[in-house]
Amino acid sequence: MKSREEIIAQLKGTLDQERFDHTLRVEKIALALASKYRVSRTKAGAAALLHDCARRLDRTGLLKTAKILGLELDPVRMFEPKLFHGEIGRHLAKDEFGVKDQEILTAIENHTTGRPGMSRLEKIIYLADHVEIGREFSGIDRIRKLAFTDLDRAIIAFAENSIAYFLKLGLPFHPATVETRNYLLLKHGKKRN
Ligand SMILES: [Fe+2]
Ligand SMILES: [Fe+2]
Repeated sequence: MKSREEIIAQLKGTLDQERFDHTLRVEKIALALASKYRVSRTKAGAAALLHDCARRLDRTGLLKTAKILGLELDPVRMFEPKLFHGEIGRHLAKDEFGVKDQEILTAIENHTTGRPGMSRLEKIIYLADHVEIGREFSGIDRIRKLAFTDLDRAIIAFAENSIAYFLKLGLPFHPATVETRNYLLLKHGKKRN
């Protein structure tokens, strides 16, 4: 795997400034969460830096690459090709940045929607991406705080916030967001009223 300096130099040359700055903020909070939850800082740092490496591609480029890689062309991702960037990022991290660690690759792959049964590293990258200090949405302060006290509750809260947002706009949302939320809710013993 390339060094932090090499990764940063390569990202700086491929991502736009806004995305690059976001990436460094995600790294910062991911490292803080990794320390808090005793997850490898090396893995968290690498996954955070590379989580959006595929965002150098626009919608058309993402869709084209998804087809070349033979990714599943589900209707929601066809509607919003940006949702391919996690899975495509996994391929780029492996092929261009020399990442072999499956945990890091899986965290990159699932950072946008999450998935049921995420590892602690995956949860950290998912939350770091969504609550880094540059993000703004109603309720973010509570979710950011929650991320440092209870990873699962923070993910449930973010997923619900996200679903509410898409409902309000009348847009489709990826089923993995719902599955992630349901999985964690039931894992923590949600009972019927
Ligand atoms: Fe992303
Ligand atoms: Fe991101």
